[in-house]
Amino acid sequence: MENEKENTMDTSVKIPGDGDTHAQTGSSYNRKSELKAFDDTKAGVKGLVDAGLTRIPKIFIHDKLNLGKSGSADSNITIPIIDLAGVRKEAILHAEIVSQVKNACQKWGFFQVINHGIPESILDKMIDGIRRFHEQETEVKKRFYNRNYQTSKVLYNSNFDLHVAPAANWRDSLSCVMAPNPPDPEELPDVCRDIIVDYTKMAKELAFILFELISEALGLSPNQLKDMSCAEGLFCVCHYYPACPEPELTMGTSSHADSSFLTLLLQDHIGGLQILHENQWVDVTPIPGGLVVNLGDMLQLISNDKFKSVNHRVLAKNVGPRISVACFFRPQFQTEDSSRLYGPMKELLSEENPPIYGETTTKEFMTHSFSIGLDGTSALDYFKL
Ligand code: OGA
Ligand code: NI
Repeated sequence: MENEKENTMDTSVKIPGDGDTHAQTGSSYNRKSELKAFDDTKAGVKGLVDAGLTRIPKIFIHDKLNLGKSGSADSNITIPIIDLAGVRKEAILHAEIVSQVKNACQKWGFFQVINHGIPESILDKMIDGIRRFHEQETEVKKRFYNRNYQTSKVLYNSNFDLHVAPAANWRDSLSCVMAPNPPDPEELPDVCRDIIVDYTKMAKELAFILFELISEALGLSPNQLKDMSCAEGLFCVCHYYPACPEPELTMGTSSHADSSFLTLLLQDHIGGLQILHENQWVDVTPIPGGLVVNLGDMLQLISNDKFKSVNHRVLAKNVGPRISVACFFRPQFQTEDSSRLYGPMKELLSEENPPIYGETTTKEFMTHSFSIGLDGTSALDYFKL
């Protein structure tokens, strides 16, 4: 396995100024068993922080080249902010919003929306609920700990790609399949059950509007992407990034592009999310009441590169916790839609624009994407003709 090689090499990486004081360095380090030991605690990164550790375990230390924090974030550049007030009411306004969405999807792959229809009180309650989940008794939380995304609808773990990624991230996550076949409410953790149901219902309505706008921005009829089942599946991933004692050595989330069609992201006020824009990292500064929208690899594939799925990451910080909720819109493993074939849309192809990708199913795409984990490479390359 390719990553295996990198992992072994990782043990010889010298941490600057670390000397012999870093408990996990040295020849006795066995990455595989340390990953297993960490996984077996079922207490996540939060468990480590609660135990009061001041140096981070070696499994979390990233190769310096991958961290690339120096020269980060040019604060003069900001991603587009699109005001959705009145989007369905006035034709002129609607056309103007479509043109803003088109520009954002072509040039950025990311934008923020305001006046999107989800009340700020609901956003606050969702962040609060997710905090409560991660901060409840470990024994209660442990019941949700597992890694079987193919069969479980509600699961909590730390690093979905723990055993394949070159280095672990400073983050724990609760994941819930919320559409098309949501779990019985009793299967959701009781500390955040009602708000997850309420928030994801509203997120889905907003996603319908966004898919309509993106369809139009591609020059298609408003319903086209929805009719292709792009908005049918909703996978909701609720992240908790504890404050980190050595943030310069690790990452909250490694650089990656999402595999969804579309992602709607709610983040709290802490910050740390960055996107790679024209080869430099740009901060996605939290806006109170705002939501972040980004396109995923599946949308880039069906749009034949007309719209881009852009790499992004979350820095680890010495403040926190930071809480965020990513709603990924894509067919789910468990449904028939996951066997539906997607390829570059015929309407967008011409002699000058021949298809760049072959057809694939979201099942195949997700399986490939999960197998490489967040290692900074694009899952799309594999599907190029
Ligand atoms: C993700 C992601 C960003 C964040 O879950 O894919 O990019 O701010 N999350 O947590
Ligand atoms: Ni992402």
